[in-house]
Amino acid sequence: MLVHVSLGQAQTALDSRDPQIEGLIERMTLEEKAGQLTVLADEIRLLNPNTNPDANRRRADELLKEVRAGRVGALFNGRGVEGARVAQRTASEESRMKIPLMFGGDVIHGYRTVFPIPLGEAASFEPVLAERTARVTAIEATAGGLHWNFAPMVDIARDQRWGRVAEGAGEDAYLGKLFAAARVRGYRGEHLANADSMLATPKHFAAYGAVAGGMEYNTVDISPQTLREVHLPPFKAAFDAGALSTMSSFNEINGVPATANYELLTKILRGEWGFKGFVVSDYTSDMELIAHGYAANEREAAKLAFLAGVDMSMQSGLYIEHLPDLVKSGEVPLAALDRSVRRVLRIKKALGLFDDPYRSLDPAREAADLKRPEHRALAREAARRSIVLLKNRQNVLPLARDTKIALIGPFAEDRLHLHGPWTLFANDQEAVTVADGIAAALEDPTLLQVVQGSSFETPLRGGIDAAVQAANEADVVLLAIGETHDMSGEAQSRTDIVVPAAQQMLAEALAATGKPIVVLLRNGRALALQGAVRDADAILVTWFLGSETGNAIADVLFGAANPSARLPVSFPIEPGQQPFYYNHKRTGRPFIKGEAREFKARYREVPNEALYPFGFGLSYSTFEYAPINLSGTTLPWDGKLTVSTRITNTSDRAGEEVAQPYIHDRVASLTRPVRELKGFRKVKLEPGESIEVSFAIRRADLEFVGRDLKWIAEPGVFDVWIAPSSVAGTAKTFRLLAEHDAAATSARTGAD
Ligand code: GLC
Repeated sequence: MLVHVSLGQAQTALDSRDPQIEGLIERMTLEEKAGQLTVLADEIRLLNPNTNPDANRRRADELLKEVRAGRVGALFNGRGVEGARVAQRTASEESRMKIPLMFGGDVIHGYRTVFPIPLGEAASFEPVLAERTARVTAIEATAGGLHWNFAPMVDIARDQRWGRVAEGAGEDAYLGKLFAAARVRGYRGEHLANADSMLATPKHFAAYGAVAGGMEYNTVDISPQTLREVHLPPFKAAFDAGALSTMSSFNEINGVPATANYELLTKILRGEWGFKGFVVSDYTSDMELIAHGYAANEREAAKLAFLAGVDMSMQSGLYIEHLPDLVKSGEVPLAALDRSVRRVLRIKKALGLFDDPYRSLDPAREAADLKRPEHRALAREAARRSIVLLKNRQNVLPLARDTKIALIGPFAEDRLHLHGPWTLFANDQEAVTVADGIAAALEDPTLLQVVQGSSFETPLRGGIDAAVQAANEADVVLLAIGETHDMSGEAQSRTDIVVPAAQQMLAEALAATGKPIVVLLRNGRALALQGAVRDADAILVTWFLGSETGNAIADVLFGAANPSARLPVSFPIEPGQQPFYYNHKRTGRPFIKGEAREFKARYREVPNEALYPFGFGLSYSTFEYAPINLSGTTLPWDGKLTVSTRITNTSDRAGEEVAQPYIHDRVASLTRPVRELKGFRKVKLEPGESIEVSFAIRRADLEFVGRDLKWIAEPGVFDVWIAPSSVAGTAKTFRLLAEHDAAATSARTGAD
């Protein structure tokens, strides 16, 4: 059951003084308090006992000694319940204070059952689907001995060169908000104390997706308005959905590293938003204040991070090393230390760990919950619903099941790159490859020829010749190309967001055969599709789809599933357009198609538009939008305006359409984007069926962050669309009336 827990309920539980916790705090030493604020990689479970058993055993024993001494509060990314029980016994039975450990981990898109990467799942435009996969993720991760998920990643990314685009929900804050909240609800389930519930950690706080040049860990220099309007809303939505921890990011924001950013971590997070959970640093991001040139040494780094609002230090060990002394010297108030310890202990209690330190450490559940068939069924459903159909010339798709197919490319039989980045707990051997999925779907598996054709980044001797030969013998070529999983994720920024050259060469050779080409794109970001890839007969964006990759792709290829996903990121014409995003500003010299090119906001080589825009996606069905209707031409300050349209399935196949309402504020005290997504509805229509889709617009939907950093709306004329993408549709206009404006026509902006 999908349960919506409000922040209020979760926060209230943390507000009251808890005698048990106050009693612990009173008896704890400074070192034990700093220990609760220290989280380390779980080398007790992390290491493979079969390699260097003596060295690993020694490292595990050293870590257990630290746990026994009360110098560690949490471990992360350990695998398996058995090792967790050893560590938990040490903490909760052998240490002086007997405070249980919390076990965290990066379970970004599935534990043992792997779902599409979050960017792919965002393409479904179905937050409820994300909530369901997050719920299963939590069931499996807690079965595997984890309590705390370092997810959802909610960074808005507008530069596809950045490798971590893959982990988020794309370029739009509205879509990002809904997926952030959905995933938090899924992880935390009905009650945080339930054995299959996880503490969610929206990350990376904040604006990590705005790194300059899309270069990993790079500087973030953005306006306070952009920070608050684009990058913070998904975090607020996640906290409102009940998230009780967050992770400070590696990047600086306008000269102040996020991990030492008092404005962000205390004034906004706690002062403005009333956040009651705890902040954990990213991996050694406190120590990295030295490299930033913001702290002179480790002691100062610990002090700056702690005083800015970082409660827990991940992996650096700086807090256990320096906090006791910083408190003794008076540089860190004891009350502040106690406050952070209180935050952590309350959440451990909310997780049920004081009642049962071995919650989620049940070997029987580990055996049962990691292989439930219904989890695989959900993975297949989520994967199918994440695939975006960009092109389908002459309806080459769907294919008949007796089609002679040449499946060509390095991803045809690949198993290593099915799951995508951040799948630490999965088993590649359990995933379904593209070739397996297609063979299983064909009437006769011998209709399928599989040829690798090229390696991921280098040509394969004889590969192209073999591929061309297979193509000539087939009815259709399926080209399985794209990015490897280590071209996405952390520290994988790319300068040239294209299909690797060796694979492009393969595509060009196959295009020359004249056979119909269907591209099965494997990608962790938007790519600039070029040459024969761009000109293929059909293009399916298949992201990294996880455990059920092959089956989901086959379901779409052969029509068992009608593609219904839409792009959560803009696919540019050229890589050089980055950063590119649909909700860009108009500029003083907008380039309007059909008008003069000279001296306009565009590149010499290409207009500043997407090859495939945000919100775009095709279906095997076709849909028609009637002209939109407005319930009026003015929106009273406290009123509501309804915008509606009728959508008809004009094909002979049932299908799903994503209706997207956009607005544009024509004139405001700060320049506004050319379009802003303000909702969406995915509707299923039978052949010939029509449906009326309407959206209510209120002043709150028209707000933006003004000069004084407050959310404001301003009277004036707005364009509004309901469209199948961020560039489609015909707008109508309405005027937001001033607060005391009756129906007087404003001289400033005549509404047409
Ligand atoms: C990494 C990532 C973060 C992750 C953490 C723990 O560097 O930035 O997303 O949760 O370290 O693995």
